[in-house]
Formats: sequence, structure tokens, C-alpha cells
Amino acid sequence: MFKLASSLSVRCVLTGKSCSRSGSVQFHLAGGALCQKSHLVPEMPPCDFKPEEYTGHMQWLWDVDGRRYLDLFAGVATVSVGHCHPKVTAAAEKQLRRLWHTTNIYVHPPLHEYCEKLASYFPDPLKVIYLTNSGSEANDLAMLMARLHTGNFDIITFRGSYHGGSPQTMGLTSNAAYKYPIANGLGCTNTMCPDVFRGPWGGSHCRDSPVQTIRECSCAQGHCMANDQYIGQLKETFDTSVPSRIAAFFAEPIQGVGGAVQYPKTYLKEAYKLVRERGGLCIADEVQTGFGRTGSHFWGFQGHDVIPDMVTMAKGIGNGYPMGAVVTTPEIAASFAKGVHFNTFGGNPVACAIASSVLDTIKEDGAQQISLNVGTYLMTELAKLRDKYEIIGDVRGKGLQIGVEMVKDKASRHPLPPEAMSEIFEDMKDMGVLIGKGGVYGQTFRIKPPMCITMEDADFFLAIFNKSLHNYMERR
Ligand SMILES: Cc1ncc(COP(=O)(O)O)c(C=O)c1O
Repeated sequence: MFKLASSLSVRCVLTGKSCSRSGSVQFHLAGGALCQKSHLVPEMPPCDFKPEEYTGHMQWLWDVDGRRYLDLFAGVATVSVGHCHPKVTAAAEKQLRRLWHTTNIYVHPPLHEYCEKLASYFPDPLKVIYLTNSGSEANDLAMLMARLHTGNFDIITFRGSYHGGSPQTMGLTSNAAYKYPIANGLGCTNTMCPDVFRGPWGGSHCRDSPVQTIRECSCAQGHCMANDQYIGQLKETFDTSVPSRIAAFFAEPIQGVGGAVQYPKTYLKEAYKLVRERGGLCIADEVQTGFGRTGSHFWGFQGHDVIPDMVTMAKGIGNGYPMGAVVTTPEIAASFAKGVHFNTFGGNPVACAIASSVLDTIKEDGAQQISLNVGTYLMTELAKLRDKYEIIGDVRGKGLQIGVEMVKDKASRHPLPPEAMSEIFEDMKDMGVLIGKGGVYGQTFRIKPPMCITMEDADFFLAIFNKSLHNYMERR
């Protein structure tokens, strides 16, 4: 649905209040009222929640001026079930009145209950749980455990990945924007990311997504040339850059900060085999892809038909409450048990009560199914925009882990420059939609909303995205 505002009017079409922003911008007031100057602007879906300043409610955020935004970035894929979800908030309030903290020296019911509940979401033998306070801390712990268990030191990750910002995990991370010029990454080697859109190889059947790349494919059915080439690159890394025995291979099921990058369907399965042949552990970083976000499965690794030796998670685990976890096997845990592991806040009662409620809420609200349905719809519709606009190079992802890679033109696949990305991004924000940016060159829009968005929200976003692309093309 669209509203046409008079080109002379700078009044809010619903409330009659004056808009104070300058330039050709539009924004939404608390009730969703739309202020606009001179454009056809899609109307925001209604919301009857009455906000205070700087409030969040489910998929909505309000700024200090009371403007409402559809949040499609969820604090970087972190608000899994919705801002201040009433059930999760109630669970937090209840626990806050009972017990805030003891450390995991004492076994308290929320810790116990949560670990059992989380373990039930994993296949055997992934049944031992360590709780941390963040994703970086979880990955730090996984690095340590892998080195202790294998007696090896070297760890391999993909270029373009983000696995954390601590001095240790900065070595896993392979994106210049997040690297500091200090000694880091001792024992960490980055290998080519099997990116079937931007990488040297890729075609129109490679990935597990409702939308394939625009690249051509001449592979016979059941065979993926791109996969063979990328596996060849991994083998070359083994032959040239690490010792014959390694400690671990870390990979996200879908690269998050890298821009929802997906690999050929069988890549991880083959890579895991090669890593294990060299004594290494396979670690799935599910910080962004876990908790139903990919729609088809609860964990991203399940979509690759593999069982990792360790799974790390954070972000969506607590719907925005600081928390992380490492899940591993009893055998690996036994190697780690030779020393004393202590973490003051890991397993905090309030965090456990919240995380437990998040698991229940995902189930009760059908969040994984929403991810599948709304995410598939979004990607299918975004693919139509890709066909319409020369500057959309690729649409990809699974469920509500979506990337839209922007290019100067489809033939060159050169990244759309940062200024152009910012223009579109800001225009969308001004029209009431928050999305993220990612990719090594900041060239990919990232859509990873709370898993409570509706088809109506999806249509609103699609209309706003179309509008901001149209505006950009007109200005160009
Ligand atoms: C895939 C992945 N792993 C690890 C991390 C680090 O998590 P945290 O910021 O909680 O330390 C992030 C953060 O963005 C991430 O996206």
C-alpha cells in the first residue's frame, strides 16, 4: 500500500504534526504515522505497542524521537525471538527475584535445566556444554580445547570470516576491517573461502539456497566443478601452509559477517574428512546460524549433513542477553578436564533462565518455521529485484540469514563502492527499515531479523528496498 504526499507538504500525513528533518526524507512516528515530503512511500505495517524512548518490541525499534523502525538486523542476528519478548522478559524477571549469581561452583537449577535442555538439541556425541559470556569467549575456549585434545597447534579458517575480536580469535578472523596491527594469529591460517558468487568458481546449482547465483553452470548432474576446485585450494593449504597434523578447522555453516556467503553443497562434508585425516577437530561456529535461523534445521551444520566435534554459539542464544556456549563430546571434554576451568559468569542463573526461555519460545512461536517461510519468500522476491536492477549481483542465504550482494554491474561483479552502499542504507533507514552491511568490501546488505517477522513486514521491506534502489538509480 502506498501513500502519495503533496510535494509541498512537510506534514505528517496521519497526525498532521510537522516533520523536523530536512531533505527529502520520510520517517515514522510512534504509532507508525508516516512523515514524508515528496515521494510515493510504502506504508509501514501497524503496531499497537506504546513505546517509551529508545524502546524495542518484537521486530520494532523506536528511537529517541519516537520514530518506529522495522528491525531487520536484530542487533547483528542476536535478537532471535523479538525485542523484549514478553515470555523471555517474564523469565528474566522471575529469576532476578530469585537468585542473580553464585558461579558454577554450585549447581543451581537454572544451570542444570538449561544444559540438559540445550544438549537435547544436539545429536550424539555432542552432549557436554560449557557456558561463556560471548561468542569470542566461546571460540577462545574451543581453540584451547582443540589444541589440548589433539596436541596440535594449527587452526584453519576461511578468508572473509569473523570469529571474534579477542587477541586469540582475531587470528581466526580474516577480514582486514576487524584486524588490529598487533601480533595475532599465531598458529592460525586462512584458506580460500569457497564463495560461489565472488570466488573464481561457481555456477547456478552450487548452493543450498532458494536462489542460485547468476553464474552459468555446465556441470553434469550430481557433480560440482566449483566444489572440486575449492577443495583443491584447501588441499593446497594443507600441503603448503600448515604442518601435517593440525588442531582444528573452524567454519560457519553460512558466513555471517562475510555477507551470508554460502559454499558448494558438499564442501563442508569433504573438508571435514580432510581435516580429520590430519588429526584436526571440526568446529562449527553457529554464533549467527544457530537456533533455527536457517529455517530448514535448528543448527546450520545439519544443512551440510555433517556432525562437528565442537559447536560454538552466542548472540541468539540469549535474545540479546550476553551469553555464549561451547558444545562438545565427552572425549574432548575429558582432555580439557585435566586442568581447572573457571568462568565467573558463564552459566549465570539469569542468563540460563533467559536462554532456557528462548529455547521454549522458539518452539512455541514456531520461529524456525517463520524463518523458513518468510526467509524463502524474501529471497524469492529479492531475486526478482536482482533481475530488475543491474547493481544487485547476488541474493542468497537460508531462512532468515540473507545476503544481497551489491555490484557496480553484473558482468564485472566489482563491489558497489561504500558511498553508494551508505546512500541506499541511509535512505532505507530514513524510510523506517534497518538492515546491516557486511562482506570483505562492505558490499553486501545483510538481512537477519528477529524470527518473529511477518509476511506483511517482508512486503514492507521489499517495497522500501525497491524504493531506495529506485531513488539511488535516479540520483546516479
Ligand atoms: C560468526 C561469529 N562468531 C563469533 C563472533 C563473536 O561473538 P561476540 O561478539 O559475542 O564475541 C561473532 C560476532 O559477530 C560472529 O558473527
